[in-house]
This record gives sequence, structure tokens and C-alpha cells, in this order.
Amino acid sequence: MRMHKKSHLEERLAACSDIVTAADMSEKNMAAAAEIPERLPLEKIFKNGNAVYLEIGCGKGKFVCESAARHPEINYIAVEKISNVLIEALERAKAENLKNVYFLNCAAEVLKRYFDEGVISRIYLNFSNPLPKEGYKKQRLTHPKFLEIYKYLLCERGEIIQKTDDRDFYLFSLESYAAAGYKIVGTCEDLAENPVPDDVETEHERLFKERGKPIYRIAAVRP
Ligand SMILES: C[S@@+](CC[C@H](N)C(=O)[O-])C[C@H]1O[C@@H](n2cnc3c(N)ncnc32)[C@H](O)[C@@H]1O
Repeated sequence: MRMHKKSHLEERLAACSDIVTAADMSEKNMAAAAEIPERLPLEKIFKNGNAVYLEIGCGKGKFVCESAARHPEINYIAVEKISNVLIEALERAKAENLKNVYFLNCAAEVLKRYFDEGVISRIYLNFSNPLPKEGYKKQRLTHPKFLEIYKYLLCERGEIIQKTDDRDFYLFSLESYAAAGYKIVGTCEDLAENPVPDDVETEHERLFKERGKPIYRIAAVRP
């Protein structure tokens, strides 16, 4: 489904420029773009040395804003490739005056350019697009190609927390983590039956729950 461009998008993005870095995508080759260092000055952004958690594909930002409000002792970076969607997350974080959230308007494919190795303690993959067609397999955010990027980003014993409503994507992801050497430390095939303490509901999660769909969850630790 095509989404309408939000009104005054450029002006609205400019008004949030202090809490977001937008990717310079003049290098069209993603692999080459990923190697152009453009490190985020984490100490300057957050003014502390707290642990950094990354959410990839944050959508409108419900999860990251609620998590940040609950956990001022954690720094959150939320990644979203579509600025037309990200604007809602940016404006929400500003309205709530959250000081421990920062945003990256980029594709997950180029994340290495923004971080030194091992600086992320946790990655959240919340309802990533399952992309069931074989031809799009490589774009799934738990494809081995991405798990290599996450290995670079995550610190020792750093973890990935994934939630999805899609059983095939859940099974694909389990295989993919295991093949890449990640240790699966938790699985759940119905989060409503086995709630996880302190879990924050996402926008998509609410919709799927309303439709009575089970929510799958995986916790995996970096090799
Ligand atoms: C299905 S939505 C889920 C949004 C939110 N996490 C939630 O649970 O409500 C997936 C989001 O991931 C973003 N996304 C997909 N592939 C991405 C990529 N390679 N890099 C960054 N964001 C991506 C999409 O633009 C979309 O906003």
C-alpha cells in the first residue's frame, strides 16, 4: 500500500534535526556505503556512558518512546528507513521531552558506519517485515547478512530480542540465529500465555493482538 507523503515533511524533519541523523545515501552501493565511517558521538548525544539499546525498524516510535520513559538509565537509538514514518516517532520523542532517545534515518544495511564495534548492548527487532517471498529473503532483518552486522554492533553477551506475529518468519529466524552461532536463550510462541515482565507493546503488536494472533518472541545472544 502506498503511503501519502505527510504534509510539510521537510520542515517537520528540520525541526527535529537535533535528535536525528539522516543517512547520506550519495553512495548507492549499500555495502560500500556501510564502510564510510560517520560515527555517532554517543557521549555527546546522551551526555553519559549508559548502555545503548538499538531498535531497528521503529515505525512510529511507540515502543522506543515508552521504553525510554520507563528506563532513563538506558540510552536508546531507533532506526527507521522511511522518514515519512519516522517523523511521528521524532515528534513524539520531542513532545515527551525524552533525553535518552536518538534516531537514525537509515537502512539497517548501513548501520556499521555509525558505530564502533561492540558498543550496542541489545538490539530489538519488533515486527520486522516477514517478507515471505523467496526473492526477498535477503532483506529479512534476520537473514545471515544482517546477523553479521549485528555481531559487529553488539558487545560481548549482547542480545537480540525479536517479536513477530509470523510463524514462518519466527522459524526462519531461529534457524538463522543458530546457523550464525547465536545462542538462543529464550523462545515463546504465545506472549499472551507467557508474558515477559517489563515488555513494551508496539503499534503492530496491538493490531495483531486485537486480531487474536499469537505473538512469537526470541531472545538470542551474540556468539
Ligand atoms: C512492520 S513495521 C513495524 C514497526 C514497529 N516496529 C512496530 O512493531 O509497530 C516494520 C518497519 O521496519 C522498517 N524497516 C524495514 N526494513 C528496514 C531496514 N532495512 N532498515 C530500517 N528500517 C526498516 C519499515 O520501514 C517499517 O517502518
